[in-house]
Amino acid sequence: MDTINGRYFRGVLGHFPTSVVAITTTDADERPQGLVVGTFMSVSLDPPLVSFLVDGSSRTLPAIRAAGRFCANALAGNQERLSRQMASGTDRFDGVIWKPSPLGNPVLDGIVAWVDCGVEKVVEIGDHFLVVGRVRHLRVESKRTPLLFFRGGYGDYLSTTNLVLDRLVGW
Ligand SMILES: Cc1cc2nc3c(=O)[nH]c(=O)nc-3n(C[C@H](O)[C@H](O)[C@H](O)COP(=O)(O)O)c2cc1C
Repeated sequence: MDTINGRYFRGVLGHFPTSVVAITTTDADERPQGLVVGTFMSVSLDPPLVSFLVDGSSRTLPAIRAAGRFCANALAGNQERLSRQMASGTDRFDGVIWKPSPLGNPVLDGIVAWVDCGVEKVVEIGDHFLVVGRVRHLRVESKRTPLLFFRGGYGDYLSTTNLVLDRLVGW
């Protein structure tokens, strides 16, 4: 198959569940900037590297490159609304509570965990850019379950152990 239909491509790839992560930084005026990605992943332990992919037309990528740093915020299962806002056109930080990370990136309130990075490398791949971050600080913020994206919709994570426990408690 040489040419692959875009809708078909997205449809099949949508069957691979992803975590929902808000990538944050600040602009030259210290204003918070960010976007939602489903492509955040760990890359290397030694040195500690992580990465995500961002569309070539991204409005946030220039801010990330200029700041030379970003924070990956793992959203919690109850933060679907926040995800929609952070993936939307405008006012992404309207009403959003956040505190600065050690590097100065926004750490959003109510998330599961965060990873604070310096930009190590930005590589153009196809119509996206792979942003590789050198991990400087990281922390588990809460015991909340993570927000997931699957087949075009949001969902909350539920472990098999929890399902079994629920069933037992339901007896
Ligand atoms: C669950 C989910 C996952 C997404 N994953 C990515 C991604 O990995 N890379 C990307 O560039 N955009 C991704 N998007 C789309 C961006 O969040 C959206 O296009 C945003 O408006 C881009 O903002 P920007 O122009 O400031 O970069 C995702 C959106 C959602 C809802």
